[in-house]
Amino acid sequence: MIKPNTGRSVMLACDHGYFMGPTHRLEEPKKTIQPLVHYCDALAVTRGVLRSSVDPKWDAPIILRVSGGTSVLKEDLSDEGITTSMKDAVRLNVSAVALSIFVGSTHEKESLLNLSKLVDEGEEFGIPVMAITAVGKELEKRDARYLSLACRLAAEIGAHLVKTYYCEEFEKVVTGCPVPLVVAGGPKLKTEVDVLELAQRAVREGAIGVDMGRNIWQNDQPVAMIKAIRAIVQENATLKEAIQLFNEEKAKTKLREETAISV
Ligand code: 5RP
Repeated sequence: MIKPNTGRSVMLACDHGYFMGPTHRLEEPKKTIQPLVHYCDALAVTRGVLRSSVDPKWDAPIILRVSGGTSVLKEDLSDEGITTSMKDAVRLNVSAVALSIFVGSTHEKESLLNLSKLVDEGEEFGIPVMAITAVGKELEKRDARYLSLACRLAAEIGAHLVKTYYCEEFEKVVTGCPVPLVVAGGPKLKTEVDVLELAQRAVREGAIGVDMGRNIWQNDQPVAMIKAIRAIVQENATLKEAIQLFNEEKAKTKLREETAISV
């Protein structure tokens, strides 16, 4: 999942359906994942999507989402349990399991105990656990003070990797977290430059990469987007180079589409 030559990773997050249902542009997971999977270092999905929509020939390591139990219709999203056993994760041959923790929420304790149980079980089989510092609908929680606390708790309980959000003073979050961090993208940002800037700042300030979903596959040019993000994360491309790559890829796609129409 983490490329040994760079120590970095581009993870493609496609696990939103477990509480959001057929969310925009992830209505048919296979169609969303297929063009993108070759440009990621790991693919995050649930077992239902793994079984139904991931071709075994695709070689991306799998990060299996194993927490859930609450839908987007509920005001409080923190009431999650473990939805997939470690035995099934082993059977599915996944590279890691992932669950959300909800620090400061009604179900803080249950989610942290879910994490500790998962780490205990994962250690038996050598399966790493990624903790996700979820904020539910309270997106305004995403500041350095809160995220430092949540990431540190996750690491102390034994998470091998933490997925969090980028924020102002992100270095503080990185400094206080003794295990590697990746950043989510969150809801779709206004422009492509905003997304690329987020990825660049995150890795410059100490994240080992991204675990991003909506800002890739909700973009009109998802392949161009993941390629540009990959250039930033794995090749230290500058923002200018990444934007140029995005525009070149977009132009190539347009040309292919026009050629297909005229034929
Ligand atoms: C869904 C998740 C997502 O994997 C995570 O939020 C990353 O996706 P996005 O970049 O769309 O925020 O945990 O529950």
